Amino acid sequence: MKKIAVLTSGGDAPGMNAAIRAIVRCGISNGWEVTGVNQGYTGLINGDFRPLRARDVSGIIQAGGTILGSSRSPEFETEPGRHKALDNLKRNQIGALFVIGGNGSQTGAHLLNQMGFPTIGVASTIDNDLYGTDQSIGVDTALNIALEAIDRLKVTATSHHRAHIVETMGRNQGYLALMAGIAGGAEYVVIPEIETTPEKVAEVIKSTYNRGKSHCLIVVAEGAYWNAERLLSHFRENAELGFSLRATILGHVQRGGAPTAFDRLLATRIGAAAIDELEAGNSGVLLGLACGEIKATPYSEVTGHQKTFDLTFLDTAEKLAR
Ligand code: F6P
Repeated sequence: MKKIAVLTSGGDAPGMNAAIRAIVRCGISNGWEVTGVNQGYTGLINGDFRPLRARDVSGIIQAGGTILGSSRSPEFETEPGRHKALDNLKRNQIGALFVIGGNGSQTGAHLLNQMGFPTIGVASTIDNDLYGTDQSIGVDTALNIALEAIDRLKVTATSHHRAHIVETMGRNQGYLALMAGIAGGAEYVVIPEIETTPEKVAEVIKSTYNRGKSHCLIVVAEGAYWNAERLLSHFRENAELGFSLRATILGHVQRGGAPTAFDRLLATRIGAAAIDELEAGNSGVLLGLACGEIKATPYSEVTGHQKTFDLTFLDTAEKLAR
C-alpha cells in the first residue's frame, strides 16, 4: 500500500480543512494510507505524524483553521532542517507529501522536491499572492469577512459623519484591500503596488467632505507603506480633513472564519485533483485555479514568478467613489 502525507503550513486559511478532507478521502479511495503531519514543517522536522482515516476528517469541511495545525518554520529554511524532515518522511515510508499553503510553504515543497522527494502543492493563502492560481483557498472567505466589517464600519462612520480607515491583511499584495474596497464602496484604496502619499489621502477625505458625503471610507492593505497606523499618526498632527478620523485594523479576524461555499468547493476540487495528479505519476507541481479549471503548474514556474492582478481596478474604484 502506498503511503502519502499531508501538512498545512504558513498562515492558516479558511478551507484548509476541506482540502485535507479531500486529500484523505480521495487518497483512501485510491487504496492509499494517509498520514497527517502536525504543525506544518515544524512537525515534519520533529516527526510529529498521525494517521488520518476517513472518520478522522468527519465534520471538518465547514470548520475554519486547520485540524493539523500550522507553523512558520525557520528551521526548515536551513539545509540541516530539511534533511531532518526528509529522514522522517523516509523512516515513515511515505511516498509523497501534499503541502497546503502559500508562497513560503510552496517554496519549501519545491526545495524538498529538488532533493528528490515527490511533493504536490495545494494553493492556499488569504493574500492571493501565489503564482499559479487565479484564486487561492481562503481568499473568498477572508474577503467576505473584511466586507462584513467594512459594511458595519460604514454604518457607524455615517452616523457620526466620520472618515474611517480600515486595514485589511495582505503583506505584499493589495488584492484583498482593493476587492474589499470596491465591494464595500470605499472612497479610496491604498495598496502596496501603487505609491500614494498622505497628502493624496487628505485630498480625498476633504473632497469627499466637501461633496456632502456623510462618511469617507479608506481601505488600506497591511503591506502598504501608508498603512492604518502611519496614516492615523500622520493625521493626528494635520487634522484639517473636514471629517474626524478613526481607524480599524482587521488583522487575523479575516483568517478565522468558517469557509464560504466557494472556498469549500475550491479546496475540495484542488484536493481531489492533487490526488489525481499523483495517481498520474506527477509531482513537483502546484494545483490551483485557472479560468475556472483546476490546473497544475510546475514548481519551477511558481517560485520564479510574482503574481499580479488587474491594477486598473484601482481607477475603477476611484470613479465609483464620485
Ligand atoms: O497568511 C498570510 C497572512 O495572513 C498575511 O496577510 C499576514 O501579513 C501574515 O499572514 C500574518 O502572519 P502571522 O499569522 O504569522 O502573524
